[in-house]
Amino acid sequence: MRLKNCYKTADFRALAKQRLPSAIFHYIDGGADDEVTLHRNTEAFNAVNLIPNVLAGVDKIDLTTHVLGRELAMPLFFSPTAMQRLFHHDGETAVAAAAEKFGTMFGVSTIGTRSIEELGAITDAPKLFQIYIHNDTALTNDLMARCKEAKFDALALTVDTIVAGNRERDYLTGMTTPPSLTPSSLLSFAMHPEWTINYLLREKFDLPNVSRYTATGSKVESSVIDYINTQMKRSIDWDDAAKMIEEWGGPFAIKGIMSVDDAKRSVEAGASAIMISNHGGRQLDGARAPFDQLQAIVDAVGGQIEIIVDGGIRRGTHVLKALAMGATACSGGRMYLYALAGAGAAGVERAMGLLRTEMERDMLLMGCENISMLNRSMLARLPGG
Ligand SMILES: Cc1cc2nc3c(=O)[nH]c(=O)nc-3n(C[C@H](O)[C@H](O)[C@H](O)COP(=O)(O)O)c2cc1C
Repeated sequence: MRLKNCYKTADFRALAKQRLPSAIFHYIDGGADDEVTLHRNTEAFNAVNLIPNVLAGVDKIDLTTHVLGRELAMPLFFSPTAMQRLFHHDGETAVAAAAEKFGTMFGVSTIGTRSIEELGAITDAPKLFQIYIHNDTALTNDLMARCKEAKFDALALTVDTIVAGNRERDYLTGMTTPPSLTPSSLLSFAMHPEWTINYLLREKFDLPNVSRYTATGSKVESSVIDYINTQMKRSIDWDDAAKMIEEWGGPFAIKGIMSVDDAKRSVEAGASAIMISNHGGRQLDGARAPFDQLQAIVDAVGGQIEIIVDGGIRRGTHVLKALAMGATACSGGRMYLYALAGAGAAGVERAMGLLRTEMERDMLLMGCENISMLNRSMLARLPGG
């Protein structure tokens, strides 16, 4: 597989699989337990059909939407994901550049491999910092202060990761962060020399947003799983969320909302947006897919809060289906991570460019010039879907 032959997310996935040592590939690709939720996240979109209107006189397509205080040129953005420099040395910088090129937003993970300050300085593209509530309040507060200083547009509080998901592929491959050479992984590293040489010779692996704070946080040789299990405050509740929303005082999303009740509580807590998400099927297996849950959430809180669908998006039509159901926008992780891993900055740019072209073409075929024209009369659920 070569970049020029990649047209769909599955092609970028094949490229990533070819390029990455298996532990790293499966870390991106895998989900929790039996991966039922991971698969359903995408199947949910395919269980609903689009009904186009023809002879609609459409010509120019406008994909603009407003999310978290910023205008986005398209209704799809980059979800925050950890450790991007481990996947490709271009890392977060490549994602920031693609966000700027396409006029969309990018998320930066607390466990990212480029610092808040660095990313704040290199681009004016809309930026979302993904935050956790840590046991150490000073750490959480300091992250917020750093984001303000670096002019991040919004925070997203991830609430579905108070404990690490059970990702069994990582046990089998011996995935650690940073990767360690074990007898079983050695062969895979040796068989992917380009990745291995880049990893060994380029800038050292680091988690600059957290490594400065705590003894454990600075031990990046402790795995991300350990980080989550030791540093996150497990007992977070709605008071913690409301307090953080007030302290931040700007656009704020709660990431990992799945129930209608929690969507309503997010409105009460003063959040600007919810990201309906099950963390890409990496946390609670058997959890419902975001798209399956969208209709009920839109019916309960639509118009009161921005609704972002995160998970399973692999095609432009998936985005159109979510918007027709009433979502404000969509975001995704693997849709750009495979491309980053496979071909760095050029990969991310190609993947997002193709998705934008798909959305534009699909809007023409749907007979819609702008996204407010998409509505539920254009959707039908397959029998048994
Ligand atoms: C490799 C990987 C790392 C991730 N890291 C984070 C993270 O640090 N914080 C977070 O809130 N979500 C994280 N996510 C979840 C994404 O933000 C997003 O919810 C998920 O990827 C959506 O599903 P999709 O990959 O099917 O698009 C990660 C996902 C992947 C695949």
